[in-house]
Amino acid sequence: MIKLNYFNCLKDEYLKDGLKENQILNNKYEKELKKVITNKSRAMMDWLDLPYQDKKTIDEIQLFGKKIPRLYENFVVLGIGGSALGAKAVKQALYSTTPDEKEGKKIKIKVVDNVDAESFNKLLNKVNLKKTMFNVVTKSGTTVEILTMFAVVLEKLQKELGDDYFVNLVVTTERDNVLWKFCQERNIKTYEVPKGVGGRYSVLCPVGLLPCAVMGLDLHKMLLGAKQVLENFKQQEGKQNLCYVSALINYTYITNGKKEIVLLPYSNRLNRMTDFYIQLLSESLGKEKSLSGKANKIFFTPSKAEGVTYQHSLLQMYQEGSKDRLFCFINLTKHNEDIKIPKFKDANLDKYLPKTMVNLMKEEQIGSSLAYKKAGHPSYELVVPVLNEENIGALLFYFELTTALMAEMMGINAYDQQGVEMQKKYTKALIGTKGFESVQDELTKLLNNKENYEL
Ligand code: PA5
Repeated sequence: MIKLNYFNCLKDEYLKDGLKENQILNNKYEKELKKVITNKSRAMMDWLDLPYQDKKTIDEIQLFGKKIPRLYENFVVLGIGGSALGAKAVKQALYSTTPDEKEGKKIKIKVVDNVDAESFNKLLNKVNLKKTMFNVVTKSGTTVEILTMFAVVLEKLQKELGDDYFVNLVVTTERDNVLWKFCQERNIKTYEVPKGVGGRYSVLCPVGLLPCAVMGLDLHKMLLGAKQVLENFKQQEGKQNLCYVSALINYTYITNGKKEIVLLPYSNRLNRMTDFYIQLLSESLGKEKSLSGKANKIFFTPSKAEGVTYQHSLLQMYQEGSKDRLFCFINLTKHNEDIKIPKFKDANLDKYLPKTMVNLMKEEQIGSSLAYKKAGHPSYELVVPVLNEENIGALLFYFELTTALMAEMMGINAYDQQGVEMQKKYTKALIGTKGFESVQDELTKLLNNKENYEL
């Protein structure tokens, strides 16, 4: 189970405006906590049921996913935002550590979440299309980026495979939308994104579970990890409640002058997990209006600086720059591999060498948290004991619950994304999508005389 250590964000002689211990112990936000799990009247809350999905549903996804590596060399996910980041994160955290399966070679998994023509072309030219399964993931079924990639892939598969093109496709989308219907009419296998589950909260439904099953991961273990975090959230009070304490630290600091929460993963395997958290926090908590319709006044930016790389870059700015940041270290206790560092047999160089590489990374993280503290910056640590299905499921759900609770504390809706929708609307109008003509006037006004300012 994942752990938290908040010692370095408590008030002391270095952190004069630090959090007082009684602020964590007093259960001040119990009401908000209850709202996360009980306020079913609010739309898009069904992600809370995902850890309890029935065995049959999960076994079917597991079985289908297991067959794919025996039949294909590549599994390519086409998605964006919440439809892609979960698979990307789990792939980096767990997939490269699993040994080749006996029955077949290890399948190559690629998550494409950008419409970059050059790299997409490169990928499509590289893979043997007959040996490639494409998983199109889009809850709405109308996201331009995904449909664009899907159209390209569909044509290529039809050319290559003729009438059997549909065999190399599996589409994950909401039941009965335009894309679902399109797939049903063509015999393309579909998985359903439940109506009450939004994109960034969908990793534990087929959106993320199918790619995980193809990776050979045990889906039940992932859900078990998520369930443990959820049970902890439902049952434990204050100090013992992992997500409660995290949300409380974040919320208290962002309402007391911090403008940025910097996430610092100290393991390459946790970089994409951090991106997943950044997207959740951004799309869920960056809101103009509060639930009551009033202007929301609580803003912050989540960002990432990979340890130890950015200790030789952004760290200088963090350390000696403005005091408006809260740091969250994301640490891994047991790394899969370590390297014992040999000696140069030259005392002038050997004095700089650590015992092992993992040991160096750990000491660097501790050193940097203490340097922040000395300079008056608060930080806390999220600790993943070891990378396995259970802990990754737990971490994903920890990110979701912490974000949802912060939204309740802030009094905003975590489950809409007007900003993203507005950009989607503008893109559709700009590419001439039927039904978006009325947006044209708005765009013309915004573009007014832009060319006059070109050099
Ligand atoms: O979290 C969200 O809702 C978004 O990030 C969506 O996942 C993203 O915009 C893609 O949308 P869709 O899955 O409908 O294609």
